Amino acid sequence: MSESVRVLFVCLGNICRSPSAEGVFRNLVTEQGLADKIFIDSCGTADWHTGKSPDSRSIEAAGRRRIDLSGLKARQLQSNDLDTFDYVLVMDRSNLADVRDIWRQNGGTEPKLFLEFGRSNEVEVPDPYYGGGEGFEHVLDLIQDASEGLLEHIRGKLA
Ligand code: 4NP
Repeated sequence: MSESVRVLFVCLGNICRSPSAEGVFRNLVTEQGLADKIFIDSCGTADWHTGKSPDSRSIEAAGRRRIDLSGLKARQLQSNDLDTFDYVLVMDRSNLADVRDIWRQNGGTEPKLFLEFGRSNEVEVPDPYYGGGEGFEHVLDLIQDASEGLLEHIRGKLA
């Protein structure tokens, strides 16, 4: 069966938070046997890291949870992504403002904060790039929780 729902995770650099979300959500989707129904990708609003692998601290933190991010490569958001993805899920308010600017000009799918699908009271996945290792664990905890909520939501649509 062809993939019917397309999900794009967006952060600033596409080397920490959004590739982590891509990996965690893909793992959950695969575990639940839905890999052929949901297409998943990630990108950054900036082009600074285009073509690079995720940050080694993200690869290591995800690896401790048996999630492999090592094959992912960064890319920048393109305006036509808003036409081709059903869900455009951003990590923080700054990403939201940047993607909303593109959306206002381009139309397509309106971006949303990813943690709207989470059960915690947190609104943003904080940028761990300049912080310590515990920041990467917290990012994964928030992403795992919101991924579960997102998949439950999409399951309702697929049913
Ligand atoms: P990300 O984190 O947006 O979660 O990928 C960052 C990665 C790189 C930079 C900032 C945030 N940077 O300044 O290069």
